[in-house]
Amino acid sequence: MCGIVGYVGNEQAAPILLDGLERLEYRGYDSAGLAVCGEHGGLTVKKTKGRLQVLREMTHDGADQPGCTGIGHTRWATHGVPNDVNAHPHVSQSGHIAVVHNGIIENYAEIRRELTEKGYHFQSETDTEVVAQLLDYFYQDCNDIFEAVVRMIHTVDGAYALGIVCADCPDRLIAARKDAPLLLGYGKDCNFIASDVTAIIRHTRDITYMEDGEMAVVEGDSIRIYNSQLQPVEKKHYYIDWEIDAAEKGGYDHFMLKEIFEQPVAIRKAIAPRIQGGKVVLRDLKMTPEEIRHIRKIFIIACGSSYHVGMVGKYNLERMLRKSVEVVLASEFRYSDPIVGPEDLVIVISQSGETLDTMAALREAKKRGARILSIVNVVGSSIARESDDVLYTWAGPEIAVATTKAYSTQMAVLNLVGLYFADVMGTMLKSDYDEVVKGLQEIPGKMESILSRVDDIKAIAKECAGHENVFFIGRNVDYALSLEGSLKLKEISYIHSEAYASGELKHGTISLIEDGTLVIALSTYGPLFDKAMSNVVEVQARGACVLALTTDSHRAEMEKAVPMLLTISDIQEMLLPQLGVVPLQLLAYYMALERGCDIDKPRNLAKSVTVE
Ligand code: G6P
Repeated sequence: MCGIVGYVGNEQAAPILLDGLERLEYRGYDSAGLAVCGEHGGLTVKKTKGRLQVLREMTHDGADQPGCTGIGHTRWATHGVPNDVNAHPHVSQSGHIAVVHNGIIENYAEIRRELTEKGYHFQSETDTEVVAQLLDYFYQDCNDIFEAVVRMIHTVDGAYALGIVCADCPDRLIAARKDAPLLLGYGKDCNFIASDVTAIIRHTRDITYMEDGEMAVVEGDSIRIYNSQLQPVEKKHYYIDWEIDAAEKGGYDHFMLKEIFEQPVAIRKAIAPRIQGGKVVLRDLKMTPEEIRHIRKIFIIACGSSYHVGMVGKYNLERMLRKSVEVVLASEFRYSDPIVGPEDLVIVISQSGETLDTMAALREAKKRGARILSIVNVVGSSIARESDDVLYTWAGPEIAVATTKAYSTQMAVLNLVGLYFADVMGTMLKSDYDEVVKGLQEIPGKMESILSRVDDIKAIAKECAGHENVFFIGRNVDYALSLEGSLKLKEISYIHSEAYASGELKHGTISLIEDGTLVIALSTYGPLFDKAMSNVVEVQARGACVLALTTDSHRAEMEKAVPMLLTISDIQEMLLPQLGVVPLQLLAYYMALERGCDIDKPRNLAKSVTVE
């Protein structure tokens, strides 16, 4: 989603802003722009539809915009088509104030009407332009940009992360936040605002996260932060210890491929410190054994691939805990008048920790008294801060829009939660518990073995890349995995793909199977292997071309039945999706590559969805 970066210091701002925007590219965008306070007064604003390279060429890598204070933006269109005029920054009618915005101003139509009546002319179709014109209106009256921002904030409804510059105070940025991520970076003789740390990590690792309702006045040598009552606030600083290399491609053609290959290391990092002497130890969990034993019901709430992790979690946690687990899409949960209360645990899963629907669902559950445990990748993100307990996945920055290592580490951490709770609740046989712990420790090595056979997967991907319709089928954890396999494929290759529980085939979907239709049959789950085989035969009888995924122990049998086969090592049943996802990620990657798709930045998609 939209990315914001701002800089105040002694160096020329535009090149720093362009570099920062490049690092935010992964969030997804369709246009970009910069506003810089000129050295001799006035603002220079450059913005354009398309990739950042176009903005670079337009500004000669920023050289055309002198000045040491500025804001930059990558836009992901919500109100108004992606074009030059709708791109940010938006400038007030007087030309004195420029604004970049992430979020949605819900009452923009009303404000626009009122300002139009007062003589304001709007250039764009965006909701953001009302912020610039409203600031202009208030600024004409009070001649104080901070005061104008305060009044503007009291007038607008909706979600915003805002970066604002005013030509009359060229050494200052104003930032404001409500329901959209924004952080402040403390540099040496310079300071920053940014949507996420990747934008500024080259310059500083010392950051603080803005909270809802806060405003900040950012100058080169100071940052003053105010709460919604305009009282100054002191905030906790976070030190970001990510390696800068982690946000670079490091020799891989795409971030997605790099992140697929990082999974063994990421899983090791997520689980190794949390397994001691064969037992799961979650020191970062504040919940007491007493509280764990009294959980009535578990909800798992998330969006996208994080929701798919929740689907695997449902099978596994119910099996480990013999307790009811409900997985709900965050966007549905928030408006469903959910039956959730103080006796329930809500597990919130989010890579970014900033997904708006997930955040809203968390708040809804919290309002109803539920305890919140979140599984999050980005340290200090909004979801992490508002949860009662946080377990970080420690996967490092994930740049490709299509998630891979975040999905795998979320699942590993959720499995750890299941084991830990099972131990406290006494719901698992020791032998089963030991087998899952041992299995978890074996995952990195077994993933490496799958990754070493990448050429086989590449060859199969080549054969499959011409299909326009694909069906993934599976039962139990294979069904949960099929949802993720199908999503990976459709989001980066644009091939139409659907995932079905195999048992549901006969209830409608089978009518879509015709000569040559590609069916990807996930049949790793041993107890239901025979049933999976029947489904393979069933679709083949209707002409389907089947690619099966199974385990080494079922290879021989499956080989006889299907023309294309992928295999993974045998492992404890609950952990099969941890391995099974890797060939499916690679399959999607190479099919998309074969079709010439923009893999790291698929059309219309955003990494972090911070609007509803
Ligand atoms: C976007 C991303 C997905 C992600 C989903 C939820 O759609 O493209 O990869 O699974 O958001 O994001 P979260 O950060 O909450 O896990």
